[in-house]
Amino acid sequence: MASLGVLRRSFSTTSSRNVIKNVTVIGGGLMGSGIAQVAAQSGNNVTLVEVNADILKKAEASIATNLGRVAKKLYKEDPNAAKKFVEEASSRIKGSTDPSEAVKDSDLVIEAIVENIGIKHKLFKSLDEAAPPKTLFASNTSSLSIGEIASVVKRKDKFGGLHFFNPVPVMKLLEIVRIPEQSEETYQAFVAWGKSIGKTCVTCKDTPGFIVNRLLVPYIAEAVRMLERGDASPRDIDTAMKLGAGYPMGPIELADYVGHDTTLSILQGWHDKYPDNPLFVPCDSQRQLVQEKKLGVKTGEGYYKYNK
Ligand SMILES: NC(=O)c1ccc[n+]([C@@H]2O[C@H](COP(=O)([O-])OP(=O)(O)OC[C@H]3O[C@@H](n4cnc5c(N)ncnc54)[C@H](O)[C@@H]3O)[C@@H](O)[C@H]2O)c1
Repeated sequence: MASLGVLRRSFSTTSSRNVIKNVTVIGGGLMGSGIAQVAAQSGNNVTLVEVNADILKKAEASIATNLGRVAKKLYKEDPNAAKKFVEEASSRIKGSTDPSEAVKDSDLVIEAIVENIGIKHKLFKSLDEAAPPKTLFASNTSSLSIGEIASVVKRKDKFGGLHFFNPVPVMKLLEIVRIPEQSEETYQAFVAWGKSIGKTCVTCKDTPGFIVNRLLVPYIAEAVRMLERGDASPRDIDTAMKLGAGYPMGPIELADYVGHDTTLSILQGWHDKYPDNPLFVPCDSQRQLVQEKKLGVKTGEGYYKYNK
């Protein structure tokens, strides 16, 4: 249990002060725009990088809408304070389509681009050359290995996983993923920054799915396999887990919510890497749904039908 001891020790000494102020978020999609928003709300200077000006504009518009929602909740009775909150947070975010330029003064770069190892490698290789030596690098990947992503950079001591959850402004958890080369200083900086943006941080090793997805994705797959065998209906499986295990959502509802394309690609990636693990085998009915573009809630149909 030496390795657990290491994790415990590093967790018990997390009293460092946050030293991160300038944050670059690469990728302004679902996750990147949420990360940029939360970072700016918490006082960081944020540069958000996208592939072109049109996508950047959409990301900025979605952040502005979401900041407005947060402000309304925070300052119900005080519209002036709400307006000030939105203006101040928005003024801390600037957009860019040039990643090399965007990392020039960055303390921390968080990558939230497409889940593709080749594309992530290309990006990090160029960022490693462009960023000053002090800059910490993090990936928000859900299913790729942090060590494998970090393999192309020289600054492995300054690399780790910062795994946020969707929707980022709402979900409290931040998984901090360690790789063997990561320095203690880098780890402490990640923890202090995570806390400073209001997240509860947990630490784990660089294993498939980290903590949450390693438990959740095989659980969803087991429920789908139960359905495929005809053991129980979707409704009964969901009702059973809600009322019998106290889960807020059943696994089939959850699969529809997450999106079958997402779960399938995670399972496929793990299965390719670990073909002997029966928990990682992709499910036929999910493959079928993806082929039919019935991805779940986001397309209006998965195992259940939804009113769009
Ligand atoms: N969606 C989730 O629930 C979730 C949760 C946790 C982590 N993640 C991870 O976060 C990452 C992003 O996921 P997402 O759901 O936000 O994807 P998304 O498709 O919504 O957004 C990705 C964005 O990255 C941009 N992009 C692609 N290549 C780029 C590049 N080279 N430079 C700059 N921008 C680039 C795209 O234009 C797109 O807007 C993935 O690694 C994913 O595994 C996703």
